[in-house]
Amino acid sequence: KSESTLSIVVVGASGDLAKKKIFPALFALYYKGYFPETFTIYGFARTSMDDEEFRDLISMTLLCRIDEAENCGPKMDTFLDRCHYFSGQYDSVQSFTQLGAELDAQEAMLSSTANRIFYLSVPPNIFTNCAQGVSNGASSKTGWSRVIVEKPFGRDTESSRKLSNELMECLTEDQIYRIDHYLAKELVDNLTVLRFSNLIFEPLWNRNHIRNVQIIFSEDFGTEGRGGYFDNYGIIRDIMQNHLLQVLAILCMEPPVSLDAEHIRDEKVKVLQSMKPITMDDTVIGQYKKDRTGKLPSYLDDDTVPKGSLCPTFAAVALHIKNARWDGVPFLMKAGKALEKREAQIRVQFRHVPGNLYQSKLGTDLEGVTNELVIRIQPDEAMYLRLNNKVPGLGMRIDRTKLDLSYHQEYGEESMSAGAYERLILDVMQGDKRMFIRSDELDAAWELFTPLLHHLDEAKAQPELYPYGSRGPIGAHYLASKYGVRWGDAQ
Ligand code: BG6
Repeated sequence: KSESTLSIVVVGASGDLAKKKIFPALFALYYKGYFPETFTIYGFARTSMDDEEFRDLISMTLLCRIDEAENCGPKMDTFLDRCHYFSGQYDSVQSFTQLGAELDAQEAMLSSTANRIFYLSVPPNIFTNCAQGVSNGASSKTGWSRVIVEKPFGRDTESSRKLSNELMECLTEDQIYRIDHYLAKELVDNLTVLRFSNLIFEPLWNRNHIRNVQIIFSEDFGTEGRGGYFDNYGIIRDIMQNHLLQVLAILCMEPPVSLDAEHIRDEKVKVLQSMKPITMDDTVIGQYKKDRTGKLPSYLDDDTVPKGSLCPTFAAVALHIKNARWDGVPFLMKAGKALEKREAQIRVQFRHVPGNLYQSKLGTDLEGVTNELVIRIQPDEAMYLRLNNKVPGLGMRIDRTKLDLSYHQEYGEESMSAGAYERLILDVMQGDKRMFIRSDELDAAWELFTPLLHHLDEAKAQPELYPYGSRGPIGAHYLASKYGVRWGDAQ
C-alpha cells in the first residue's frame, strides 16, 4: 500500500467547465506524473449513469497533447480506469454520505491515509449545500479534505459575505480554495518575478515614473448560449471584479515579506483596501448590437437573454489607489465581449523624459513616445518595452521600436501548454494558496464595485451600444481622455 492516496471528486461532473477544463486538466496532471501513485477520481452529478458511460463521456474531452500516439493511449486507459461516477442530489447530505462510504471503501484498498479534493463545479446557489454535504458526509477521516470553489462568489458585498459565512460554518478558511484562473496564467504568475527579481523595474514602479496603467480584456465572441448565466452577472462581475482586479492587485502591491501565500495575500488586500469605490463618473458601460453587415447577432438576439436586458457586455472604469506609491496615477480597466479581437494585456505607460534633448525629433505628441511596458497575457504571450531609438543611417531620425520577448519564440510552443486549471489543481494538491483568493480579499474586491453595481441597477443605466466586432463604445475613449490617457491597444 502507498503512503497516502488522493481522491478527487468533481461535483457537477456533467457541466461545461468539468468537461472543457477540469477533466482534461486532471488527465494532463496524471500524464505528466504529478499524481500520487494511487488515486481515484469521482464524477458526481444528478444524471444517472454508470462508470462506463461516464468514462465514455469524459474520454471525448481528454487530449493527448504531448506525444500523440503510443504513450498516450495506454495512459488514458489507466486514467479512465481510476474514474468512477456517483449519481446523487447536491442538496442531500445523504448522497454525500453514500459517496463518502464509496470513497472509504475504494481508498481502504489503496492506503491507510486518504486525502480528498472536492471541486464544486456547480452554480453558486448550491455551493452551501455541497459544502455542507462534504463536511457532514464526505470528508476524509484519515487525511485532509480541500474544497475548490469557482466564481461567482456572490453578486455584491452582502451576498458574498452571506455565502462566505455559510461556507465557514461547515469548512475552515484553510480548506477553501477560491479559484481565479487568471492568477494562474503564465504572464500573471510572472508578474512577481518581473517586479521583484529585476532591478530595473521596481525603482520605477511608482507615481514618480508611471503615468498610467491599463488592464484590457477583450473577446471576439459574444455570449453565445451562455446568456442565461451572463445576464445575471454582466461583464463587471464576470471579468472585472475578479480577474482584472486580481491582476491589478499583484501589479500594484508592495513587496511581500516572503513568497508565502499569506504574505502575498496580505499585500494584495492592502492595495484593494487603498482604492476608492468606483463612481459612475469613472464608468462607461456598453452592450453589443449587430455588426455593421447585420450578420453577427446583438446581445439581445441571444435566446437565453431576457428581452430588453440592460446588462453590460462592456465596461471601462478608472480606479485610484490612495497610497504613497500610487496616489494620482489613473488605473484604467476595460473588458468587453464581441469586440474586434481576443486579447488580455497590461500596459504600463511611463512619464516623459524631463527636458528631453530629442524633443524636436520626437515631435509634439510626447504622449505617443513615452516608454511603455506591455505584458500580453494572451494570446501569443509576450512582454515588450517600447523605446525610442535612432533609425540606423545618416542623419537623425528617431523611431518607436520595442525590446520584445515572445514566449513562443523564447521558450517554445510546448512551454505554454500547461493550462491554468492544471496549475491550480496541482496547487490544491500541494496546499499552495498563493493563487487563490482569501475571504478578506474577496470582501475588499466587492466593496470596490458594489456601490457602482447597485447604482447601475437602481438607475436602470442604459449601456452604450457598440457593433459586434468593433473596438467598443466611444465613451471608453472619453473616459481615458478625461485622465489625459489614450488606450494603448487602440494605437
Ligand atoms: C470566465 C468568464 O471566468 O473567463 C467568461 O466567466 C470568460 O465569460 C472567461 O470568457 C475568459 O477566460 P479565458 O481564460 O478564456 O481568457
